[in-house]
Amino acid sequence: MHRNIISADSKTAPVGLRLLVIRSNGFQRGRVDNMKKELDDFRSEGELNISPYRKAWQEKSIDNATRLLLEEDAKYFLHQSLSTPCLNVLRRCNGSYVEDLEGNRILDFHGNSVHQVGFGHPTVIDAAKQQLDELSFCTRRFTNVPAIELAKKLTSLAPDPLNKLLFAPGGTSAIGIALKLARMATGRFKTISMWDAFHGASLDAISLGGEAMFRKDAGPLLPGTEHVPPPDDQHCPWDCAGSCTLKCAEYVDYVLAKEGDVCAVVAETVRSIPYFPPKEYWQIVREACDRHGALLILDEIPHCLGRTGSWFTFENYDVIPDIVVIGKGLGGGVFPLAAVLARQDLDIAPERALGHYTHEKNPVACAAGLATLRVIEQEGLLQRSKDMGARALDKLTQLQQRYPVIGHVRGQGLLLGVELINPESGDRNVDLAERVLYSSLSKGLSFKISMGNVLTLAPPLNIPEKDMDRAIDIIDESLAECQLE
Ligand SMILES: Cc1ncc(COP(=O)(O)O)c(C=O)c1O
Repeated sequence: MHRNIISADSKTAPVGLRLLVIRSNGFQRGRVDNMKKELDDFRSEGELNISPYRKAWQEKSIDNATRLLLEEDAKYFLHQSLSTPCLNVLRRCNGSYVEDLEGNRILDFHGNSVHQVGFGHPTVIDAAKQQLDELSFCTRRFTNVPAIELAKKLTSLAPDPLNKLLFAPGGTSAIGIALKLARMATGRFKTISMWDAFHGASLDAISLGGEAMFRKDAGPLLPGTEHVPPPDDQHCPWDCAGSCTLKCAEYVDYVLAKEGDVCAVVAETVRSIPYFPPKEYWQIVREACDRHGALLILDEIPHCLGRTGSWFTFENYDVIPDIVVIGKGLGGGVFPLAAVLARQDLDIAPERALGHYTHEKNPVACAAGLATLRVIEQEGLLQRSKDMGARALDKLTQLQQRYPVIGHVRGQGLLLGVELINPESGDRNVDLAERVLYSSLSKGLSFKISMGNVLTLAPPLNIPEKDMDRAIDIIDESLAECQLE
């Protein structure tokens, strides 16, 4: 499995491999530190798969059969960050749990943000199975009942004037559609988006995104993509130190005015790291967009449909975007499905192609989507997300009082973050975050680490209370254990 790594050239290999090569060759410390800094810039979207803590965890926790499969995975798949080489092999998922090949059940607080209704929800699975038996695909130029019903339902859930939509087979493609529509509607092409943001992995989406992991070495990106600092009050360039002064919102207004011809501001309503701007942030930006003739495109792909306690996250901010993009959980955790919902009067390109994706109106995905919305309504998951989220945030705040390494806890609904710091310097504690992750995995909890040091907790919205409590206990036990090491 590690043959490639050991033989990699220390000058030409990607930085992660170079670091391992240099470490194994015993090169000087200074070069390692430089590369460590470079690697830190890559830690935005999730923990890196080249971590020595991951390797140590695998050596301790993975049996031979699994190891052989991981080696096969590493042999056939192109290696890339956050993916191959993989951590472990799964064989089952159900509710809040995934199960590995050895039968270990792990609470999944990561779930790629697709599991609002949990994994394998029977209503979703039954709807998909039934649809597979009836109409498994819908050739272009035809439409189908599940697609029409899902469009009707989503536009009825969204406030006016978000009454038109297109489906796409994934969030990245949906972002591309939103961008093209905004360009065609305004006759402009410039955008303002945020550093550290993620809008998908394609070239247009990484041009909007602000993460080194995706942008570095990718060559020329889209022109006219201005970036501004995100509303992250814990790491604010204006030093607002935890109490947002809205300078970041005023700066968006400033750039809109300076450029004068911006097509759209594109941003995640809340960043799923997570951080949450104050309510006034979006009100200021909304108003500035209107004043400068720019559209507001909100990306709610990972947290739509209840994660933050409402169908659409912008509802928590009393603003309505011109275009909102949703995805992930829309496919019920089973199918890739995303949607672009737009203002009715943006229906301006009937003779051009905005999407044209092969699986645009896939009836099985749409049936799963409809069933997902039904489950969210029938199980009262919007309110549950708020209630369980508030309860969890309260428990995490109690943990913060006991552990000085917890610099900040925050949440909106069941999107929660625990930021680990070095108490003396206040710096991001990347090392501890990784140790806590691998300790938690051994105890049966998986979550994502964002920006290197934020434990990002996103459980299913219907997670049983006892499982939520168990997860927080695991974080508590892991913090205690890692601090003793
Ligand atoms: C905010 C945001 N936008 C866009 C995407 C891309 O979605 P997809 O992976 O379905 O293409 C993601 C995926 O993680 C996301 O979190």
